[in-house]
Amino acid sequence: MPGDKSISHRSLLFGAIAEGTTTIQGLLPAEDPISTAACLRLMGVAISPIEAGAIVTVEGVGLDGLKEPAEILNCGNSGTTMRLMLGLLAGRDGRHFVLDGDASLRRRPMRRVGQPLASMGADVRGRDGGNLAPLAVQGRALKGTVIGTPVASAQVKSALLLAALTAGSTTTVIEPAQSRDHSERMLKAFGADLTVGGEIGRHISVQPGATLHGQTVVVPGDISSAAFWLVAGSLIPGADLTIENVGLNPTRTGILEILDQIGARIEVLNPRDVAGEPVGDLRVTHGALQPFEFGEEIMPRLVDEVPILCVAACFCDGESRISGASELRVKETDRLAVMARQLKAMGAEIEEQEDGVTIRGGHPLNGAELDSETDHRVAMSLAVAAMLAKGDSTLARSEAAAVSYPTFWEELERLRN
Ligand code: S3P
Repeated sequence: MPGDKSISHRSLLFGAIAEGTTTIQGLLPAEDPISTAACLRLMGVAISPIEAGAIVTVEGVGLDGLKEPAEILNCGNSGTTMRLMLGLLAGRDGRHFVLDGDASLRRRPMRRVGQPLASMGADVRGRDGGNLAPLAVQGRALKGTVIGTPVASAQVKSALLLAALTAGSTTTVIEPAQSRDHSERMLKAFGADLTVGGEIGRHISVQPGATLHGQTVVVPGDISSAAFWLVAGSLIPGADLTIENVGLNPTRTGILEILDQIGARIEVLNPRDVAGEPVGDLRVTHGALQPFEFGEEIMPRLVDEVPILCVAACFCDGESRISGASELRVKETDRLAVMARQLKAMGAEIEEQEDGVTIRGGHPLNGAELDSETDHRVAMSLAVAAMLAKGDSTLARSEAAAVSYPTFWEELERLRN
């Protein structure tokens, strides 16, 4: 599997503000991490070319070494780039930054980061009262505080932890439910003074001032990309796939929990630990899946896998229901609306609710004229649906897959033959 997108962004960002060189093996050479690298380069960070198979080096400039860029920081399609960058830049006293992105990113809510940062003294402005990009950040000295985040979002949490590194005193972030914890693991490994505790919710405290040191990061494969093959392998008669090098961090494995509950035949082979993250190979063989229901509790562990689970539900004999998924409406697209619209075009019985979808599966889908609507995970989910449908489909804007999985179409071709 190509490298994990979340860990790839973080290895570049943390490497940039460390002292010394960070060496990254397995960095995802996709559009989103390339956006993060491009922004960092505009602030004086030397990063070697990001290419498939290349070991990437980041020459850290230290906690306060980022230069004021003369140009706009273009975050492209990447919410992680924009949100983590806000946290990284808010405390650069006296420096000014402008962040922008593509049409999709300009529609995504940024107040969820700007507002808690403001309670540390940050000055972030944008359209719609500071909610929408383009955003302007006037760097200021920040103060430490205690912040409860309203959504279990790793992007919001990570932005605050980045801001906390240079605040005047301790910052504690309390999240309502545990989101992916790559930032906590990696910041500690880079040398940050970070502790995790708390019984109700989860408290993460950062004591500012610790110097970060360049690290060797080995990026595991992305389970969110593996999810397409897990579902395809379960549903295509005769399939027997082994997906090598998949990150199995327990804050990300909701997809395996659901697939296991509904009868998928998935084995974890060769479980191991790679640079602080659990990793394994996954073998999936064809087998019938049962309809399912899941909600808010598991959502943070499989938030990016909901589109492909919508496809899976179309092939389960009976009614499946996904709830507690309103966050899907503010991803790269409104993924509940887009999946409902596109799967309906194939003849699926899918009904949208405010916070989820109900799908009555078990009858065949028909090939149709489909559209990713510019969303990478929609593009790849529809590709799996199209493979399983009766008749041919066409997919407009299929190139969106390159945001997180540039070799997806080649891999699909290879697996079909
Ligand atoms: C990410 C967190 C998730 C996820 C996104 C990547 C991250 O977003 O959907 O693809 O790297 O922190 P939220 O934190 O907004 O849920």
